Amino acid sequence: AKDNRTIMITGGAGFIGSHVVRLFVTKYPHYRIVNVDALTYAGNLANLKDVQSAPNYTFEKADITDETRIKELFVQYQFDAVIHLAAESHVDRSIMDPLAFVRTNVLGTANLLHIAGAAWKNDYAGKLFYHVSTDEVYGSLGAEGFFTEETPYDPRSPYSASKASSDHFVMAWHHTYGLPVILSNCSNNYGSNHFPEKLIPLMINNILNNKPLPVYGKGENVRDWLFVDDHARAIDIIFHSGRVGEKYNIGGFNEWKNIDIVHLLCSIMDKKLGRTPGESAKLITFVKDRPGHDLRYAIDATKLNKELGWKPSLQFAEGLEKTVDWYLAHQDWVKEVTSGDYQKYYTEQY
Ligand code: NAD
Ligand code: DAU
Repeated sequence: AKDNRTIMITGGAGFIGSHVVRLFVTKYPHYRIVNVDALTYAGNLANLKDVQSAPNYTFEKADITDETRIKELFVQYQFDAVIHLAAESHVDRSIMDPLAFVRTNVLGTANLLHIAGAAWKNDYAGKLFYHVSTDEVYGSLGAEGFFTEETPYDPRSPYSASKASSDHFVMAWHHTYGLPVILSNCSNNYGSNHFPEKLIPLMINNILNNKPLPVYGKGENVRDWLFVDDHARAIDIIFHSGRVGEKYNIGGFNEWKNIDIVHLLCSIMDKKLGRTPGESAKLITFVKDRPGHDLRYAIDATKLNKELGWKPSLQFAEGLEKTVDWYLAHQDWVKEVTSGDYQKYYTEQY
């Protein structure tokens, strides 16, 4: 592939996307990175302040479902590759408003595939469409076992169904039109710039503000947590060295019950805020379970490890402490993203 590739990164103003944009802009000064993002409630250019004036970085506000606009961008920039992260990403919102997820995740992905395919027709050399997806497409595990790349799809929420559908469209474009694609399915990320509707940043924010900590059901559900920079690093490696037409699972080898994470966060925050041990944990409140709540996700990332040598770099306790420190130092960011619409969402959800 060319050294001076122009890459469209969709969803670059979001949580994971901003970490991917930063990595590519700083590590590959010879690439031109175009961040294409609609700036929904989840997109925030403040996430990219440190790279916004880099000479190899450009931002384009655009909706991935907008056929005319995305076509124009392909003409203007002559993209060599797409790394597609733009999505509606929150399961609870998908239960409230499923069609928004069908629109962005299904129609938006198909629109990008359609336009990339047409733009690159008969000249696929050096081209790549990299689709970033989730382990939730595999459904829910019991106490045993792991998701591998061969696990059949079994999505159970509107979010995971929309992501599963987008994965199928990506593979359909590969098999039908020969589009060079790669797909990865990752477990739960955490780290800086994580929107405070998701478990870890929501709990940090509520502990800090002495608000109830809403644990769904009995808090027995298990997730496999990965530091967001480790995900970005995996995307970098797969983008450059992964095999076209293949999918790779990415995971933290780091399973935690929700209730144990909440307790761990409470004890970290007690120390940071100078509270007596056990004080923050008094805020824990068990609330109505999420409908269709998947019990357990656990990723087998052996393929990525054996083929491309990737493994997570950070211990969870260290990553979590770093994350808490980031939120305590960036209360201005939290205030900004929790103003306006967030209050309405929070009231409807809890
Ligand atoms: P996020 O919600 O933080 O960010 C999504 C970004 O996409 C935002 O910047 C938003 O403005 C943008 N966007 C939404 N709709 C758009 C549209 N129609 N057109 C253009 N831009 C639009 O999401 P995230 O957590 O960073 O997730 C990024 C990707 O990674 C998603 O595809 C998600 O499914 C996947 N993923 C997330 C996790 C996780 O733990 N967060 C794990 C595995 C996979
Ligand atoms: O597995 C990857 C997925 O991880 C990504 O594809 C999604 O985009 C991402 O949002 C995340 O989905 P989850 O549903 O696992 O994440 P969430 O942070 O919403 O919830 C984590 C667990 O915590 C889940 O079992 C539900 C529970 N939970 C969540 C919230 C927000 C609570 O108990 N209370 C809460 O208030």
